[in-house]
Amino acid sequence: MNRVPSGVKGLDELVEGGFPEGRSILVTGGCGTGKTILCTQYIFNGAEKYNEPGIYVTLDERPELIRQDMLRFGWDLAKLEDKNLLQIIDGSLAKIGMPSEEEFSMPAAGFDLDRLLLEIMRTAKRIGAKRLVIDSIPALGFNFNSENEVRNAILKLSYMLMRIGVTTLMTTESSLENMSNYGKYGIEEYVTDGVVVLHYMGIGTRSNRTLHIRKMRATKHSEDLHPIEITDKGVVVHRVEKEYEEI
Ligand SMILES: Nc1ncnc2c1ncn2[C@@H]1O[C@H](COP(=O)(O)OP(=O)(O)O)[C@@H](O)[C@H]1O
Ligand SMILES: [Mg+2]
Repeated sequence: MNRVPSGVKGLDELVEGGFPEGRSILVTGGCGTGKTILCTQYIFNGAEKYNEPGIYVTLDERPELIRQDMLRFGWDLAKLEDKNLLQIIDGSLAKIGMPSEEEFSMPAAGFDLDRLLLEIMRTAKRIGAKRLVIDSIPALGFNFNSENEVRNAILKLSYMLMRIGVTTLMTTESSLENMSNYGKYGIEEYVTDGVVVLHYMGIGTRSNRTLHIRKMRATKHSEDLHPIEITDKGVVVHRVEKEYEEI
């Protein structure tokens, strides 16, 4: 089994060196928990450290803002785009029916799963992509009538992505109020190969962020709740102190 390391400090050793190749992993958490930062870090490191081209499909945020925000962490996405090591696909405007000025975007009309897959396939072929991020699943704006339709759509997505040969992080929203589900639709966790959960208790001067691996098929993984920090180099995952374990 080949591993796809995130390059995120402290994370890869929690999953035997990296995510299982070709699989789709859900990154879930409330707003501001660091999903977009973590996913960008995965794509940036892939291109920069491991020479693996990546695709970032953004549905929540406009590409120009992501490029700008990520410079704070020293991640020059535009430079990677110039070198064909990264392609950002803009779905942020298509989903509200507006045309995008980005070179690569979803058409304003007819935004759907098949179109998205086609665009991903074309792009993957063009740059030889090994990594993919879809940020976020709820923003795909699926008009599902039943859980079954959501399940089928995500299964189809994961299956096609595996055939394309990319290792995917997809984000979804979960809330503290609904702790029994790890995704917006309540079923994403069952149809993806792994689930990484981010938490943020954003109160007080000591920020209280954690990460835990809820599930990861095909590998052993840490079962602990790990403290994390968002630093000026991005997300850093810490080990659980011995003291915590003995309490
Ligand atoms: N430069 C930074 N240093 C430290 N924390 C930051 C920095 N930039 C953003 N953050 C934190 O990250 C949060 C945004 O993370 P993001 O990945 O966009 O969240 P999500 O995608 O889960 O909504 C902000 O609300 C803030 O708390
Ligand atoms: Mg986000």
